[in-house]
Amino acid sequence: MSIGILTSGGDAPGMNAAVRAAFRCLKMRDPDCEIVFFRDGFRGLARRLDSSSDRNVDRRAVRDIIHRGGTFIGTGRVPELLLPPEGHASYAERVAARDDFLKVAAINLYQMRVDNLIVIGGDGSFRGARIIGEAFRQHFPRRPFRVIGIPGTIDNDLHGTEYSIGYDTALNNVVDAIRKLRDTIESHRRAIILEVMGNTSGWLALQSAIAGGAAVVAIPEVEETWDHDRIVRSLDAGVRRDYRYFIIVVAEGVRRRAGEDWCEGLKHKLESDRAIESHLGHPMEVRINSVGHIARGGSPTALDNTLAGLLGSGAADVAQIGGLEGQPLVEGDVMVGCRGPRTILTGLDEVIDRSPRLVTRDSELYQLSQRLMLSAEQPF
Ligand code: F6P
Repeated sequence: MSIGILTSGGDAPGMNAAVRAAFRCLKMRDPDCEIVFFRDGFRGLARRLDSSSDRNVDRRAVRDIIHRGGTFIGTGRVPELLLPPEGHASYAERVAARDDFLKVAAINLYQMRVDNLIVIGGDGSFRGARIIGEAFRQHFPRRPFRVIGIPGTIDNDLHGTEYSIGYDTALNNVVDAIRKLRDTIESHRRAIILEVMGNTSGWLALQSAIAGGAAVVAIPEVEETWDHDRIVRSLDAGVRRDYRYFIIVVAEGVRRRAGEDWCEGLKHKLESDRAIESHLGHPMEVRINSVGHIARGGSPTALDNTLAGLLGSGAADVAQIGGLEGQPLVEGDVMVGCRGPRTILTGLDEVIDRSPRLVTRDSELYQLSQRLMLSAEQPF
């Protein structure tokens, strides 16, 4: 039998190190085991196998990749796996397209004799992997098949792990962007609204705002953080205390929840606020920026590569011995996560059902942000 590895969804720095770690640990335990890399995410499962996968890869395949960002085996999102709501005009057509995709994927996996598929990605990827696993079992009920998830997403929004691969690098990238922006906005005494990725969660925005010393953070999970008037009052308090410039970090999910023109609306309010203008002596100048995909690029940090090593090694354990070394065996599809420096396993269904893991008001990081950032109530 062979072990398949693929990366899926948004690339995340450290994915290469995870592929390498899984490869090395699998071969260390069984040098003869066959490892297959599927290219471009789930697409690689459902295309001609000779062009979309690398069979029986050897150690040269994972050379010189540990320091590289992105994913050297490629990734992608597969809309065929997502269905529109039942009753939608294209529903039947999409179900047929999805079934075709799943059938080819299942046959390919069968022909490659894959009994363990390691999927490195986020919750969308795990949902896709679950559907593929179900299709495989339906087509080939007598063949064993297991999905082993490794959390790889800059959003850090998965249940079953404290950290996902790529988050730390993205965090450092965003903090780096904030530090660079400080130079220019301080020179002009401006405010900057900086949008940060994170999908529906605010973790990346929240933690980068804390670490970067932002004045304000807005996250999708806590509605009062997107209240324009509250932000204007906070900045007014800052202006009265002679703050020279302001960094407002906003998670992209805010725009989705509060309206696409949220940033422009805030800019307009700040620039036309009379109280701020009278304290400053002129209207506030505001610029809008976005870190965008730059957050996902560059060499992974040491922390991300260490995490990748830990989780890749855990995935190899599950594939070869049926559980983490020295711990009870586990059944079914699982995700290897971390709690502190230890690896833990969670059933894939539970991960999917309880993800995305969102910021709550009582999250320690959120509470910390409220103590560290500017507010109209600041007594000093
Ligand atoms: O899930 C990772 C992520 O970077 C999100 O933060 C973001 O919303 C999304 O991917 C962007 O996706 P794409 O690269 O497909 O534009």
